[in-house]
Amino acid sequence: MCEELKILKQGAEARLFICQYLGQPTLIKERFKKNYRHPDLDTSITKERIKNEARAIVRCKTAGVKTPTLYLVDFERRRIYMQHFVQSVTIKDFIINIFNKVENGSGDNANSLDEVAKMIGQTVRKLHENNIIHGDLTTSNMLLVPKLSVNIDQDSKWLNVENLELVMIDFGLSSFDSSTEDKGVDLYVLERALISTHNDYPELFGKILDAYKAFSKSNIKEIISKFEEVRARGRKRTMVG
Ligand SMILES: Nc1ncnc2c1ncn2[C@@H]1O[C@H](COP(=O)(O)OP(=O)(O)OP(=O)(O)O)[C@@H](O)[C@H]1O
Ligand SMILES: [Mg+2]
Repeated sequence: MCEELKILKQGAEARLFICQYLGQPTLIKERFKKNYRHPDLDTSITKERIKNEARAIVRCKTAGVKTPTLYLVDFERRRIYMQHFVQSVTIKDFIINIFNKVENGSGDNANSLDEVAKMIGQTVRKLHENNIIHGDLTTSNMLLVPKLSVNIDQDSKWLNVENLELVMIDFGLSSFDSSTEDKGVDLYVLERALISTHNDYPELFGKILDAYKAFSKSNIKEIISKFEEVRARGRKRTMVG
């Protein structure tokens, strides 16, 4: 079915392989067994994560959020086959890379950072407007890929955000919920992730939130107040220990 698997990455939950499947560059995400879990529980958790991921990818298509195309789900082998973006960079790496350049004094790069923040806010808003809760919003779970019409043949083109679009990945913890609470928690998870990964760019979350709020439907105020409530609860917990 897929000859010559090459390992790309080994994460905490999954091993990622790349191969050619039906002539397309394909990424296989294989969720390995966790020995500390009871085998039955492990199988059902894994199945649930795979289902979540597959379901969310399909939903994103109708929501207009770009994700890798789903090719195949193999529950027996705990695998999901999807489109591999051979040319891609995580937003985490993009920001870290660009940040170093901004510190060296380029205004264009500061602009790119703002653009990326805007893309993140708009994408999360689209997810939530369609009741898709990501469950693990981090900048490692967002890729930038060249737009179809753009031929990226030089490194410098990667720095021009206009050439790129955001692809959301890693939907194993996703769910579908219309509640403002879940959306608020999703935002809180993102804020926490940014604090630990991009602490030298503290304005990032505020910029994302501005784009999230812009042009959005009526219940955005409720979502934001839920988010603030969740954050206050989080703070209290941290203070208590
Ligand atoms: N379709 C894809 N195309 C290109 N790169 C991808 C794709 N899917 C995942 N990656 C890369 O692999 C990394 C890990 O993938 P993913 O987030 O789906 O797995 P994970 O279980 O969270 O792994 P980890 O524990 O390493 O975070 C991503 O951060 C990204 O760099
Ligand atoms: Mg991930």
